[in-house]
Amino acid sequence: MTSFPAVRLRRTRQNEKLRGLVRETQLSVEQLIYPLFIAEGINEPREISAMPGIKQWSLEHLGREAERIARLGIPAVLLFGIPTEKDEVGSQAYNSQGIIQQAIHRLKAEAPDLLVMTDVCLCEYTSHGHCGVVQNGYVQNDESLELLARMALSHVEAGADLVAPSDMMDGRVGTIRRTLDEQGFSSTPIMAYSAKYASGFYGPFREAAGSAPQFGDRRAYQMDPANVREALREVELDIKEGADIVMVKPALAYMDVIRQVREHFDLPIAAYNVSGEYSMIKAAAMQGWIDERRITMEVLTGIRRAGADMIITYFAPEVAQWLQES
Ligand code: PBG
Repeated sequence: MTSFPAVRLRRTRQNEKLRGLVRETQLSVEQLIYPLFIAEGINEPREISAMPGIKQWSLEHLGREAERIARLGIPAVLLFGIPTEKDEVGSQAYNSQGIIQQAIHRLKAEAPDLLVMTDVCLCEYTSHGHCGVVQNGYVQNDESLELLARMALSHVEAGADLVAPSDMMDGRVGTIRRTLDEQGFSSTPIMAYSAKYASGFYGPFREAAGSAPQFGDRRAYQMDPANVREALREVELDIKEGADIVMVKPALAYMDVIRQVREHFDLPIAAYNVSGEYSMIKAAAMQGWIDERRITMEVLTGIRRAGADMIITYFAPEVAQWLQES
């Protein structure tokens, strides 16, 4: 007999031990990556109003925060820099004394066990706030590649363990891979923001990173939220160019994209649980409308179930704590 009453799916839901045995998806601290914002020219950590609990760190306070992250068992941080000076070509992005390069040195000295990943994109460093070089009001693809490769190389020279290009220029993974290989960094992995959508969910991040475009938007280089087959092409190309890990971003409204990438490719997949996804939960929780812990665990478990191996999330320290308690 293969149906009710012989079959009762509630049997294995009776208690937590049985539920644990049949649980299909695990969420653990080893799968979490925590984004960190480091600002030049500030002396005290600065709160980000749209992202309660997240701060811009000064170089002086970075070490202590990194130690806290490492003690929680979080394996990796993803760095974003906020420079004091911006220009047309994002010069501070590939300055060996730039804010991120200094931050990497500090982290390597003060929290040597933490994996240091860096976001590679010009938007925080350009006066126009776009992710590449602008000419005639248009973000130029090929002209941007060399600058992105210089940026990635300078991060790796400063000690970064992995670089994560998020600019969405065509060919950037290959250009970065070649540059790193030529300079003796053939062991440094690339996590490509492969399927990165032009998303309203990045809103709070733009306050955190000071990277809002000064004109237009990013739809001429980031993906259209309506497309999924195109995401598979993006992923395929990044794999051919040498990506070691591919990313889907944002996560929540794109779970089907994560699933499709999982079914088509064997590479590790990262999902970015972005700023807007964080802030919505925080805001509703602050109103007392939802149970923050329960919803956060549910969301992150869902992202894992969709097929992500690792999750970049602003909730990482809280989740690490909750996982220790449970
Ligand atoms: C840089 C970049 C962005 C994010 C990560 N890298 C912003 C953007 O593309 O506009 C968003 C992260 C988040 O919202 O948490 N290009």
